[in-house]
Amino acid sequence: MRPPGAQTLRVLPTAEAVAEAVAERLVEALARNPELVLALPTGRTPLLLYRHLVALHREGRVSFSRATAFQLDELLGLAPDHPARFAAYLTRHLFQHVDLAQERIQRLDGAAPDPEAECARYEDALAAAGGLDVALLGIGDNGHVAFNEPGPTLQARAHVAVLARQTREANAGLFAGEPSHVPTHALTLGMAALLQAREVHLVATGASKADILRAALRGPLTPQVPASFLQLHPRLSVWLDTAALGQNEAALS
Ligand code: PGA
Repeated sequence: MRPPGAQTLRVLPTAEAVAEAVAERLVEALARNPELVLALPTGRTPLLLYRHLVALHREGRVSFSRATAFQLDELLGLAPDHPARFAAYLTRHLFQHVDLAQERIQRLDGAAPDPEAECARYEDALAAAGGLDVALLGIGDNGHVAFNEPGPTLQARAHVAVLARQTREANAGLFAGEPSHVPTHALTLGMAALLQAREVHLVATGASKADILRAALRGPLTPQVPASFLQLHPRLSVWLDTAALGQNEAALS
């Protein structure tokens, strides 16, 4: 099945199979270019993928020693030792288990005293790295990518985002189930960094993603569904399990 443009849709039976296939794809990309510059998501979806990458690293099948990793987004205003920080998630699930060099792990500092300046610093770091080779993305139930949230406009550059109610609810699990404890703002890469990535891999699993995927991949380009702009990307791979494909097979084929 091929969506319009140069996009590929890959549907696998389970979330586990999706994680395995995306991990293998990254292993190939790192073998071709050990200096790969990656953007990495957090959330529930990439957990299995990171588990596979760690296992492949332990088997000696992949090294990250010359790669660079950019965190996609970060909650704003949490203390530097708060376990819900996305930086802590990435350390816990990936960085502490693989051989990424500390100096090539790029983190958005959600405790920065001047968040706008932190976004500008991050854009500079991304430019200095030559932009993203691979943007690995999940999709929010509301169509966000990174924390580019639905609204009347989107922003090209890294910015301070106001989190949507739905996003705060989706992240409540990190805050004892209490959406009101989820920060109201976050730092995020903007749409330009994602659309200028040389390859984009959008990963979605589970039935709850089926409706938003249809809107994102087949609907009009609209800032109300930020992921819809990924339709413009010339090298977008969409990785789904059959649950996320849902009833969309005809629409997406
Ligand atoms: P999820 O989050 O993987 O926890 O569903 C996706 C996202 O919000 O980008």
